[in-house]
Amino acid sequence: MTERARSIPPTLSPATQLCGVVLHPAGHTRSPAMHNAAFRVLGLDAVYLAFDVRPEALGDAIRGARAFGVRQLAVSIPHKIEVMKEVDEVDDTATSIGAVNTVTREGERLIGSNTDWTGAVRALEHQGGAELDGCRACVLGAGGAARSVVFGLRERGAQVTILNRTRSRADELCRSLSAEASGNLDALHEIDYDVLVNTTSVGLGEDVSPVAAAALREDTLVMDAVYDPAETRLLREARSRGARTVAGKWWLVHQAAEQLERWSGQPAPTDVMASAFDVA
Ligand code: ATR
Repeated sequence: MTERARSIPPTLSPATQLCGVVLHPAGHTRSPAMHNAAFRVLGLDAVYLAFDVRPEALGDAIRGARAFGVRQLAVSIPHKIEVMKEVDEVDDTATSIGAVNTVTREGERLIGSNTDWTGAVRALEHQGGAELDGCRACVLGAGGAARSVVFGLRERGAQVTILNRTRSRADELCRSLSAEASGNLDALHEIDYDVLVNTTSVGLGEDVSPVAAAALREDTLVMDAVYDPAETRLLREARSRGARTVAGKWWLVHQAAEQLERWSGQPAPTDVMASAFDVA
């Protein structure tokens, strides 16, 4: 898709479907760019907007979405847990993860689901060529993003070790999702892993890494949830030590791709969405 084609507004009609993302504070989100680019390529009569919704207004926002017949909402920080109370049904995987990042209208009902975990797994498999069944995975961090990726890795049959700055959170997540082991971030050098995923915010906008370069190994696959900068210090150091790397953007692209597939029933143009992500 050319720059010009991407910048042409969608054609709006009385039948145009509305999708969007709810988040707060507004900040910068690349979701509208990714989804609108995909709508145009697929010829979907739909438009995607960003809605800055304060936490106390979430219930009103979801009731409004229901009344307006909004087709799908992506749900971002800080609403992923609270939104579970506002929908008609939360599917089994989102219930297990304890967070909803997608609300899709199906008939008259709003269904909450989670594509954060599939986004992570698809990025590792499609971009990284990972065979997750039986592999040894190590997840850095124990917050919401870690919960999704640990769930996804366990679902695919990986053995998972969780390392976190605050050890007790790693232990708790390990118990709750039946992972194999947990520890502090500096234990990485003692662990044999095939796949390493950073879900901490370390490296966001700064040239720092959550782990020592000496703990990184060749013949492994390393993915970073941090997508800005595109190549974080962790990924750069992993690459220079002979590891394969997957940039954080692919996690976001694949979770968005699955959202689009869920409501449209069409295969998502992930390359188009990735290009739109780059220029947004
Ligand atoms: P998210 O939902 O995006 O995962 P979160 O729940 O706030 O966000 O979790 C952030 C993660 O980054 C946590 O694992 C946090 O570690 P703690 O549990 O010890 O707070 C980790 N993190 C944030 N800043 C960090 C830092 N400077 N060094 C190491 N870990 C950090």
